Amino acid sequence: MKIDGTAYRTIWLNADGQGVDILDQTRFPHAFEVITLRDLDAAATAIRDMWVRGAPLIGATAAYGMALALRADASDTALAAAHERLLATRPTAINLRWALERCRARLAPLSPRDRPGAAYRLAAEICDEDVAINAAIGEAGLALIREMSARKGGAPVNILTHCNAGWLATVDWGTATAPIYKAHDAGIPVHVWVDETRPRNQGAFLTAWELGRHGVPHHVVVDNAGGHLMQHGKVDMVIVGTDRTTARGDVCNKIGTYLKALAAADNGVPFYVALPSPTIDFTVEDGLAGIPIEERSGREVTHIAGRGPDGVAVDVQLTPDGSDGFNPAFDVTPARLVTGLITERGLCPATAEGIAGLFPERGARS
Ligand code: MRU
Repeated sequence: MKIDGTAYRTIWLNADGQGVDILDQTRFPHAFEVITLRDLDAAATAIRDMWVRGAPLIGATAAYGMALALRADASDTALAAAHERLLATRPTAINLRWALERCRARLAPLSPRDRPGAAYRLAAEICDEDVAINAAIGEAGLALIREMSARKGGAPVNILTHCNAGWLATVDWGTATAPIYKAHDAGIPVHVWVDETRPRNQGAFLTAWELGRHGVPHHVVVDNAGGHLMQHGKVDMVIVGTDRTTARGDVCNKIGTYLKALAAADNGVPFYVALPSPTIDFTVEDGLAGIPIEERSGREVTHIAGRGPDGVAVDVQLTPDGSDGFNPAFDVTPARLVTGLITERGLCPATAEGIAGLFPERGARS
């Protein structure tokens, strides 16, 4: 993504070749601030406190966190401890476990002396792969948008998205936004309805910022507006991301996604989920029973937090004293409500057969 003429990824190796640079996403949209992570502690904090977030970027940051850990101590004990520490940062996005398992498989057989260099190389490889995967998702989703545009005689295609499954949630491109950016770049008129995505407002703070920077027409809507927009024919398709999709196609994503899927089904609006294959958890079939849902502080509900243009933190209490908040961060959309999955290998139905057909080598329980 180009910011003021400079191409950025969301995570990269610092110029000193050791630290890892990230964008502090708690500062968006008012500040574009780079933080350098220098050790395991910083990497774990960055994921836990959501300086970085979004399933693919969480995985990439964990891989670099492993490299930072092994730079300080490359023993077997340190490797195991770093794995455990990073895995405990957030429970729902499976990309975290996927990246850490990949690190362990590659690094554990090596001698401690060889581990740090190999860990940095692997983290870079995971980042490069994420970029290529998302670009391919963009091409697959572009075909859907192109088709819809033709059906509408070239009138703008209205796409609703939830949370931020964008550039900021990945290393580059985004998942749900990749087809949108590709369509916009190809001259296909698109317009995006951006759910604000309470309580942390990733739509309002992050997706709106990205789309604006890329010049994509959009409006931010309150989370409850989607059903109304669909009833009035103002949404041509929904595209969302996912933190974990099961082997049979149940989709776990930011809280509120399920309600959008219900509204889409009731109104005959296609509901697509864009995902890289590392987001598929082949060890789980039933998303409701098998996916741990992160429960965050109720304070994110009772208060609204952000920063003013001067960079000063704003934290406003919305609720009366004594009313506590309850804050499940994700929900599960059953596969039957999903029109299709947009992956780096193309489209498939949200079914066990559809997923296994595209990724036969992953098989059961891998
Ligand atoms: O809590 P977050 O901000 O990490 O949640 C992010 C999402 O729910 C995204 O939709 C998901 O990770 C897909 S990112 C390509």
